[in-house]
Amino acid sequence: MSTSTPSLNSEYFSTTPLQVRIDTHARYSEHPDDPAAAVLEVLDLAGTESLADIGCGDARFLAHLAERGHSGRLVNVDNSAAMVAAATAIPGVDGVLGEATALPLADREFDRTTARHMLYHVPDPVAALREFRRITRPGGRVVVTVNHARTCTRTGELVVSHAQAYGLEPVAELANSVNSDTLPEMMAEVFTTVSIARFDNALVFDTAPPLIRLAHAMASFCGVGTDSPHRDAILADVATDIHRWFASNPGQVWRDPKGYIVATGIVE
Ligand SMILES: C[S@@+](CC[C@H](N)C(=O)[O-])C[C@H]1O[C@@H](n2cnc3c(N)ncnc32)[C@H](O)[C@@H]1O
Repeated sequence: MSTSTPSLNSEYFSTTPLQVRIDTHARYSEHPDDPAAAVLEVLDLAGTESLADIGCGDARFLAHLAERGHSGRLVNVDNSAAMVAAATAIPGVDGVLGEATALPLADREFDRTTARHMLYHVPDPVAALREFRRITRPGGRVVVTVNHARTCTRTGELVVSHAQAYGLEPVAELANSVNSDTLPEMMAEVFTTVSIARFDNALVFDTAPPLIRLAHAMASFCGVGTDSPHRDAILADVATDIHRWFASNPGQVWRDPKGYIVATGIVE
């Protein structure tokens, strides 16, 4: 399925753009960047806890936990059927189709709940935080990660400028105002005890191809739908512009600041 106006359904109809973005961050960060390790650090797992990962994406986080022998129940939740299918394919991990604000899970069912880089897409993020608290047992932890407001802005603005040349604009539905500036206050509305860890970094590219791959994987967020009649032309313009930048700036790198916070709420 695809639509010419980008939507969450079209963006997450396939796992591919998400995987390109994750792999690019893993490989082209200025300093080592391991958001999964940052989350694991605050989850403080013994290995037997039940854990729900909401907005699981391609499910690699819980796949990693299952591989390293976590024996507690692992449940991935996402509102995209493609992501749930990816989750269900992983041995030892359940996949559940569900909305973050109306989870098909029982009160206090889990020892830990995570929501990594997904709250941007939820129209009522505080309602989602209350759901995460509801499904987590007293004494358990809810761990949420979100990006800084200005993350990969340089690359995003490049794509947006080419989209605008064709009359396309970013769609508000794809990203609300949840970021590392706004999340702490939302967490404080829902949890009495909150701690925040901050991670600052940048993407750095010294050649055009990986930057072009990232820019293309960001296209939906920049207003370019998967079946926009202008998509191929816009992506070609973006690639030409990036090649031109490297040709005109020999020996320089394309640096794009980024970062995120890991917010932990203790359930009482
Ligand atoms: C940016 S991806 C992050 C995926 C994964 N957590 C990670 O960090 O790699 C956002 C994910 O949240 C899912 N999502 C978006 N809105 C949602 C909602 N309201 N309820 C549940 N999942 C949602 C999307 O389908 C997508 O898989």
